[in-house]
Amino acid sequence: MKCRVCNNEISSFMSFGKMPIANGFIKKKDLKKEYFYNLETCFCDNCKVFQIKKQPDPKKMFHGNYPFFSSLSKGMVKHFNSLSAKIKKNFLKKSDSFIIELGCNDGIFLKNFKDYKHLGIEPSRNVAREASKNGVKTISEFFSYKLSNKILKKNGNADLIYSANVMCHIPNINDVAKGISNLLKYRGVLIFEDPYLGDVIDKTSFDQIYDEHVFLFSALSVKNIFSKFNLNLFKVERLQTHGGSMRYYLRKEKKIKNYYNVNKIIISERKRKLHLMQTYIQFKKNCENFKKNFKNFLLQNKSKNINVIGYGATSKSTTILNYCNINKDLISQIFDITKLKQNKLSPGTHIPINNFDYNLNTKKDYYVLFAWNHKKEILNKELKNKKFRGKWYIPFPYNK
Ligand code: TMP
Ligand code: ZN
Repeated sequence: MKCRVCNNEISSFMSFGKMPIANGFIKKKDLKKEYFYNLETCFCDNCKVFQIKKQPDPKKMFHGNYPFFSSLSKGMVKHFNSLSAKIKKNFLKKSDSFIIELGCNDGIFLKNFKDYKHLGIEPSRNVAREASKNGVKTISEFFSYKLSNKILKKNGNADLIYSANVMCHIPNINDVAKGISNLLKYRGVLIFEDPYLGDVIDKTSFDQIYDEHVFLFSALSVKNIFSKFNLNLFKVERLQTHGGSMRYYLRKEKKIKNYYNVNKIIISERKRKLHLMQTYIQFKKNCENFKKNFKNFLLQNKSKNINVIGYGATSKSTTILNYCNINKDLISQIFDITKLKQNKLSPGTHIPINNFDYNLNTKKDYYVLFAWNHKKEILNKELKNKKFRGKWYIPFPYNK
């Protein structure tokens, strides 16, 4: 197959096997219609971009029933509020500044910019409706170069384009980067953040790999992708969100200081050998090792009649459960606060998903924290919950 970014010939270094849609929580009556594809990962030696081999049709993933609402996490609400304040202070000094968000979800970020000229773009219709209800001007479409022209005609150039956990979802990244470059003012800024490849490799957190995440970025790969469209990386910021992320700042303007910070991270990536295939071969071994250990843990509990429950029906858990072949014999149910997921089955492995109910539980129970990226928030919450009994199993970081 060809690299999505540079068209170089690439091949997969690992297969996670047959996978369903990561957010494809399913009703029993629809099981016959369940869709599967092979999840395989590739690394491009030329442009250094980590990518999955085949991505299902985006319309299968982002539609009128997308079950992920960012505002359900208090931690994420705080995260976006503090970023908004920072952006207002550093980049959007004039109130007629125009800010665009790609993949605005339920408006968790843009609702802080209602007093500014703003526009949210969100392809999942149900989530886009929620953003509109929250007072955010939203259009429900996939962003592209073509759409950038329409926006340009109607609204003019943007001062700032932002996206969180969206850029890594976009297979036609070249077209989108061209669209961003087209839409941005010369002095405008593109800021985006995504799960960081360095963390996935260090923590063996392969659960970041699923259909939606067509790419996992490093600073080096971001520099390579966007520089072709005149978007120059001038600053990076490490974040704790989603198990370890990176925020990237890019500009068309060439005369910008502060490349220091970017160079430093790229040197550290080279030291960690993120630019070499050998790292990914080792990563594959670490994943196999995780699979063996996790399976053993579950089988031991089963033999001792200990109940194991999943905490958080995350999209990430779809990769773990399917790759490790875990069904309801080993994990009896998964608790999740999202109404759209409750009373459905986990994709591919068909474990029941229920609202939280601690009434039947005992001290011996184990909770596998699939939402391990919200560890601080969740462990604090359950510490205060008198009904919570049981022990935690936190899958990542995985100590090889
Ligand atoms: P995420 O890891 O992709 O952010 O998804 C988190 C999932 O976990 C989402 O389905 C909501 C669920 N969740 C809970 O059930 N309880 C919680 O306290 C939190 C923070 C999330
Ligand atoms: Zn490439």
